[in-house]
Amino acid sequence: MAEAVGEAPGKALLMGEHAVVYGHPAIAVPLRSVKATATVEFSRNGGIEIYAPEIGEHITSVSEASPRLAPLAKLVETVSRFFGEERQGYRVLIESTIPIGRGMGSGAAAAVALVRAVCTALGRSLDADAIGEFANAAEIAYHGNPSGVDTAVIARDEPVYFVKSKPIRGIEVGPSAFVLVVADTGIASSTAQVVEDVRRARRKDKARYDSYFWELGSMASVAREVIRTGSPEELGLCMNNAQKTLRLLSVSCPELDALVSTALEKGAFGAKLSGAGRGGSMIAVVDPATNLEQFSADLRAAGAERVLTTILSGGTQA
Ligand code: PMV
Repeated sequence: MAEAVGEAPGKALLMGEHAVVYGHPAIAVPLRSVKATATVEFSRNGGIEIYAPEIGEHITSVSEASPRLAPLAKLVETVSRFFGEERQGYRVLIESTIPIGRGMGSGAAAAVALVRAVCTALGRSLDADAIGEFANAAEIAYHGNPSGVDTAVIARDEPVYFVKSKPIRGIEVGPSAFVLVVADTGIASSTAQVVEDVRRARRKDKARYDSYFWELGSMASVAREVIRTGSPEELGLCMNNAQKTLRLLSVSCPELDALVSTALEKGAFGAKLSGAGRGGSMIAVVDPATNLEQFSADLRAAGAERVLTTILSGGTQA
């Protein structure tokens, strides 16, 4: 068999991170300028071998101890079994340009790309939401209790309005264009750890934390309506409000705050952390007339390691 290839984009959380874990809505967008690629070929000797050069890891069986690759090997096994092909052996190469631990969905994208490649290798197909659900099993191994928003947006490759355990919905984009800029602090953070810290803090002060989650979720709902009928200025207000609440949750950090301040000083309508926080990335919405080269240079001068841009417009995303 020739090699089968699957790809998946990165992603950014626009609204609703953390609250989404507690059943509130979130909005996520794909980041298509970074991607994960899985290349799969059948092997005669059975078993599952996975090589991931970016993280310098290689495993030759499902039972090998590798926190990053064992969940992916398990995923290959699960998808194979689903199609009644459990005896098939595989050799897998995982490559990615998505930085790890920056809230850009590196793990989820590797898993989605892999499910796609295995389906192609077997001559089968699954719809996007089924691919997302399979891939989320690997996320559970990485993060414990993920909401599922990362695999949902990455598998759909379109902006989503996501509520845990509810059907996933796309986002309708109205007449305005929403230019989004994502800046990577360069600091890797553990989603599992930050989510766990928030969970512990909530246990001690439930009413307060639940009110934060309500605010973040409500802001995500308002943002969805703004994207459908409103302006980038209004989306900016939602994002600034969300950032205030995320700071109260203590998931921001000085490096993220510096990128948020710079984005606002340089004319962004709104800016907030994106993803779990305590490192990872910042997301801003800017005037479509903004000189993006200059804006990106300003963010780099304020500490960003890389800056990516994506545009929501006319029902599509560039
Ligand atoms: O993986 P990250 O950093 O994009 O965070 C995902 C968003 C959280 O709401 C913090 C966790 C989750 O499972 O939804």
